[in-house]
Amino acid sequence: MISDTPGLMDQVRDRFAHIDVCPFEGPRAFFENAGGALRLKSVVETSAAYASYPDNQGRPNVASQALMAAIDKGKADMRLFLNAPKGVVFVGESGSEVLFRLVRNAATGSEKGGVMIRSTLEHPAMGSAMAHWAEQTGRELIEVVHDNATGLVTAEAYKAVLRPDIRVASIIHTSPVTGKSTDVKAITAAIREVAPNAIVLVDGIQHACHGPVDVTDYDVDGYALSPYKMFSRHGYGVGWVSDRLTALAHEQIAGNGPLSWELGTRDTGAYATFSDVVAYFDWLGSQFSESDDRRTRLEAAGSAIHDEEAKLTGLILNGTGNLRGLSEMPGVELIAAEGDTPREGVISITVEGWDTKALVEFLGSKGVRTHIRKADNYSGNVLVPLGKPDCLRVSYCHYNTEAEVAKLLGAMEEALAQVG
Ligand SMILES: Cc1ncc(COP(=O)(O)O)c(C=O)c1O
Repeated sequence: MISDTPGLMDQVRDRFAHIDVCPFEGPRAFFENAGGALRLKSVVETSAAYASYPDNQGRPNVASQALMAAIDKGKADMRLFLNAPKGVVFVGESGSEVLFRLVRNAATGSEKGGVMIRSTLEHPAMGSAMAHWAEQTGRELIEVVHDNATGLVTAEAYKAVLRPDIRVASIIHTSPVTGKSTDVKAITAAIREVAPNAIVLVDGIQHACHGPVDVTDYDVDGYALSPYKMFSRHGYGVGWVSDRLTALAHEQIAGNGPLSWELGTRDTGAYATFSDVVAYFDWLGSQFSESDDRRTRLEAAGSAIHDEEAKLTGLILNGTGNLRGLSEMPGVELIAAEGDTPREGVISITVEGWDTKALVEFLGSKGVRTHIRKADNYSGNVLVPLGKPDCLRVSYCHYNTEAEVAKLLGAMEEALAQVG
C-alpha cells in the first residue's frame, strides 16, 4: 500500500500542485476530487511549454516534427492506459463532447431502425446524448432503472430488457454521485449475447483516476475520459473507438482516411499532458512492480491506488483514532449504503439538521473542501428517486491521507455539535 511504504506518500504528494494549500483560501484538505482531481506539477509545466510554441503540426521544420512526435507519444500512452492496441484514440473538447460524438456517430452510422438502451445511473452527458440521438434517429430509448439502495445498475437489470435489435447501448463505469462502479464487462457480455452487433459505449470519466482501464477485456466500442478528473487539466477530453465503430460511416474531414476521428488542429499540449499522467501511473506502479512491461506497471499502480482508496473509504466510514466515522455519526445518512461493491473515491451523505450548502461552507471554514450535489439535471437521477433535494459529496483520491480524514471527521463532529 502507498501509505505503508516508507516515504512514498510524501513522494506522491510532492508530485501534485496545491496538494494541501488552496492558492485562494489557504490550507485545506481536498475532498472534491470527483469535481476535478489535483493536477500533476509535470502537467502544469508541460502545458505552459506547449502553449508557448507557435509552430503548427505537419511542417518539415524541427519544432513541428517535435509536436508530431509528442502527439504520437500521447496516442501511444492513451492506448497503453486504455489497453487498446486496436481501434483509434482521439482528443475532443471535453468528456461530454466526446460522449456526444461517440453516441452521435454510433446512432447515425448504425443500421436504421432498432432501439437504443441506457441506464438511469448515467451522468446527463451520456444520458442527454442517448435521448437526443434516439429521438433524432426515430428509435425508442429503453431505460434500465438503477437500484437506489446500492447505487448501482447490474447486468441482471440490463438482461431483463435486452432485445436483438439494440443498435446502441450505453454504460456508466462509475457514478459520480453514488461512487459505485458497474461491472462493464458483465453488462457488455449480456448485451452481446442478445445483440452481438450493438455498439456499446462507456462513460469512464469518474472511474479513470482510480486505475487503468481495459477496453479490450470489456469488449466495448467506445470509451470516454476527462483528463481534468485524472490529474491532467481542463480543455480536452479523450475518446477511444473500436474498429467496429470506426467502420461505420462517421464524421471526419474528407480525405483524411477511414481511420480519422480528429477534427481540426490538435492541441499538442493535450496529448503531452496525457503522457505526463501515464508517466505518473508508470512511476507509481514501478514502486510496486519490477516488471519491464509498462502496462504491467500501470496495472500495479491501479491496484496500489485501489488498496489505498479502500483504506481511505474504511477510515471515512468507520473512523480513525478516537474519531467516529461518517457511518457511526447520528443524523448522517449514506447514499447507496447497501451492497458490497467498493466505492471509487466518492461518499455522499445527508446530515439531519444541516442545510447542505451551509454545511459545505462550514467545512470549508474548517479547511475541508467538499461539494454539494443537488437534485438538478446533473444529480437528480440519483437524488430525486431518494426524495432528497441534495447531498454532501466527499470525494477522495489515493493522495489523500489519514490526517486529512481526521480533519474531515473532526470538522463533521463540530458540525454535529451545532445541531445538538
Ligand atoms: C461520470 C461523468 N460523466 C461525464 C462528465 C462530464 O465530463 P466533462 O466535464 O469533461 O464534460 C462528468 C463530470 O462530472 C462525470 O462525472
